[in-house]
This record gives sequence, C-alpha cells and structure tokens, in this order.
Amino acid sequence: MPSDPPARLSHRKLRHIEACLLDESQYQGVTTGLEDVAWPYHALPELNLEAVDLGCTFLGKRLSAPVLIGAMTGGAEKSATINRNLAAAAQRLGLGLMLGSQRVMLEHPEVAASFQVREHAPDILLVGNLGAAQLLKGYGPADLERAAALVGADAMAIHLNPLQEAMQTGGDTDWAGVLARLREVVAQTRVPLLLKEVGHGLGAEVARQVEGLGFAALDVAGAGGTSWARVEQLAETGRVYSPDLAELGLPTAQAVREVRRVLPSAPLIASGGVRTGLDAARALLLGADVVAVARPLLVPALTSAEAVEAWLTQFIRELRVALFVGGYADLATLKQRG
Ligand SMILES: Cc1cc2nc3c(=O)[nH]c(=O)nc-3n(C[C@H](O)[C@H](O)[C@H](O)COP(=O)(O)O)c2cc1C
Repeated sequence: MPSDPPARLSHRKLRHIEACLLDESQYQGVTTGLEDVAWPYHALPELNLEAVDLGCTFLGKRLSAPVLIGAMTGGAEKSATINRNLAAAAQRLGLGLMLGSQRVMLEHPEVAASFQVREHAPDILLVGNLGAAQLLKGYGPADLERAAALVGADAMAIHLNPLQEAMQTGGDTDWAGVLARLREVVAQTRVPLLLKEVGHGLGAEVARQVEGLGFAALDVAGAGGTSWARVEQLAETGRVYSPDLAELGLPTAQAVREVRRVLPSAPLIASGGVRTGLDAARALLLGADVVAVARPLLVPALTSAEAVEAWLTQFIRELRVALFVGGYADLATLKQRG
C-alpha cells in the first residue's frame, strides 16, 4: 500500500489545523439553512427546565445529550493533545467522540498512541475514521477492523471527500468504482460502519445509492460550517484561489431533510456548521438523531479538557433551553410532535 513519510503527513495535518483556525476556512456565502427552521415558542411550557431530558441511545451507547464531538485530526504531536482533551471532556459529559482519520496511524504504528484515548474515556461512544479514498487504494475490511481494535472504537466512520481531494495537488481523484467498493467493504467488515462527508454534504442521491448497503449510520456533514475545499486551498497556498468551488455543497438543513426523506429510520447525524444549541435543536427537529460539532472545539481542544467541557456545557445548556421553550420534555416528544 502506498505510504507517505510520517513527517510529510504530519506536516500536512499541521497545515490543516492552522488553516482551520482561520475564519476563511468557513463557508463565506453559503449557510447551513438551520437559521431558517422555525422553532416553536411556547410561553406556557408546563415543564421544569432542569428536568428536560436530553438523554438518548445512539449506536447502542447511552449519551447524556444527542451530541458528538466531530472527527478531527492533528499534526502528530498535536493530535495526542487534541484527542486526549476531547476524550476526557466527552467522558465527563457523557457524549460521543469521533476520531480523525487513522490513515497515518495505520501507515505509521509509532503514532498510534496519539489516537488511543480509551484510558481517558472508557465508557464513551468512540468512532474511528478512514477515508473512502483509502479503500480504493488497497485498504479494506481487515484494516478497518484493525483501526477500530487499536483504539477500542465502537464503530468506524468512512469519510467521502472528493472535492477536498480534487483541491489537493496529488490528491486521490480517481473515485471510479467507489460505490462497488463500499458495498464490498460494508458486507465484509465486522465493525459497524458510518458514512460521512467532511463538510460538503450527503444528500438524497447518496442516500439512495447507499440504501441497503448496511451502514450503521450516516453523518450528512453538510455545508455552512468548515469547507474542506477552503481548508485544502489555504493549507497548500495560503489563499483561497477557487472561492466558488470552495462554496459548493449541500447546506446542512437541506442535507438532513433529503437523507431523512429517503431513509426514514436510518440513524442520522447532523453536522457541518452546527454552532449553537439552537442549531442542534433545529437539526433534531428536521429528523437528525444526534448532532456533531468539529471546528468550534479545535481551539478548546488545543487548550485543555476543561475548555472543551466548558464549550460543550454551554452548547448543551442552549439545547436544553430550546427544548424547554419549545414545550418538549425530551427528545422522543420532539420526534413525535416535530
Ligand atoms: C481540524 C479538523 C480536522 C478534521 N479532520 C477530519 C478527519 O480526519 N476525518 C473526517 O472525516 N473529517 C475531518 N474533519 C471534518 C469534520 O469532521 C466535519 O465533518 C467538518 O469539519 C464540518 O463540521 P464543522 O463545520 O463543525 O467543522 C475535520 C475537521 C476539522 C475542523
């Protein structure tokens, strides 16, 4: 299997982090569309705010709130700090954590420790990660199972990122046969698999293409937050040289609606530009089961577990208030009444 030298991979990851820290990494024109979802307001909620129950079960694990920390990688030395801080906060708050791409770890086992967070988070829902591009280049079920086993993951996410790859010099741009490969891999892998984008969105068409393949969940990772086409351009040249291409994608609200319409009962993650608890509430109202947040947690994750915890506590508080003033006692009521 082709292998980039570890120094090159970690240098690229570091450039990604630096690019993600810039405001220019975010969509500039396109928004998630969540802001247009009308949220009901009940002046007589007949509820106790503190008793609003945000608990749910996702992929077989209990969560205290329907919130996952989105997949993020670091440069070699930074990824250990990022993952440790994210994991410790997820454990304390009872939330899930999606790890960043484990490709570097499979190619260079010496960096595996930076992904191994189970000692900080023995109980959480933990999701590993690998790119579909890697599955087209020789990686397969055994590698996904190994990646999961090495970190103690409950499931593995496969990310689709054709636009990001196309923005990268030497990116993996031959995606012919990807659906057949996914079908093969899902059928043969003995770890639950999720399918996600990286910020440009999965919509109705993808949902129809993968229907019945056996994915345990889908994460729309829609447009309106971090644009990986922007990140890739910034990381490579320091500027966004194709700004229109970088704005391509399905806005998160639309992506959730579309996937939910095609797959009414598939476990569904809403992500991409989810920035507040009210954004999360609106995505749940559209039919998502849980939300995931990535970029807003990057600075806190580089700081401390306490900083991550503080950001998420505020976010969950906002979600609780939204349900309270919407008159929803819990997530089941939100789902039933819509
Ligand atoms: C620093 C950083 C690193 C990321 N690395 C990965 C990755 O390795 N694998 C992946 O599937 N997605 C990765 N993502 C994409 C996120 O999981 C997410 O889909 C995307 O950023 C949109 O969410 P956001 O708007 O909340 O940032 C990364 C995002 C950030 C900010």
